[in-house]
Amino acid sequence: MQDYREFLAEILIDENTLQTRIRQLAEEINRDYAGEEVLLICILRGALPFLVDLMRHLNVRVAIDCMAISSYGTGARASTGNVRVTYDLQTNIAGRHVLLVEDIIDSGHTIAHVLEMLHTRRPKSLRVCALLDKESRREAVVPIHYRGFVIENKFVFGYGLDIDEYYRNLPFVGVVDLQKYKSE
Ligand code: IMP
Ligand code: MG
Repeated sequence: MQDYREFLAEILIDENTLQTRIRQLAEEINRDYAGEEVLLICILRGALPFLVDLMRHLNVRVAIDCMAISSYGTGARASTGNVRVTYDLQTNIAGRHVLLVEDIIDSGHTIAHVLEMLHTRRPKSLRVCALLDKESRREAVVPIHYRGFVIENKFVFGYGLDIDEYYRNLPFVGVVDLQKYKSE
């Protein structure tokens, strides 16, 4: 596997900046859900590190569940809008405050599909918390209640975000130099 330093164009958001912002998001969530219970839903696999770091700063009652969505195409290709649930929730969300936790919102098709599907299950509330927002790429209308960073339209990796399923473990968000990245 290629060393990421060979194709890292720049570190877009370093570890400290990520963690500081995540703490701020958690404070907002603590205020908004004070006295309530919230069910965090991790959109696998990209939101894993974000959800883990976020929930450690939450002081409201928290439960978690996971869901996996596949939008066709791998690597540095954009989502097509062709979205499918590959692993569904194990929790009944009816009457509960649900907060979807996502790594990045690009076209918005993935999260729009998930929102539509979960609405039919009658949660008490349904909100979105996204670490990154490629706002200029939006095709679907998506309400983002908690947003970490608005970023430019560049392919990013690290801190949950993959390139062909690797590099999710890096503690920062970096920009890929697509000329230098060699897919195996
Ligand atoms: P959307 O449906 O176009 O909003 O796509 C959202 C999904 O595409 C995210 O959950 C990511 O898995 C993936 N994605 C979009 N942009 C990037 C990126 O720059 N790096 C890695 N994955 C990305
Ligand atoms: Mg994802």
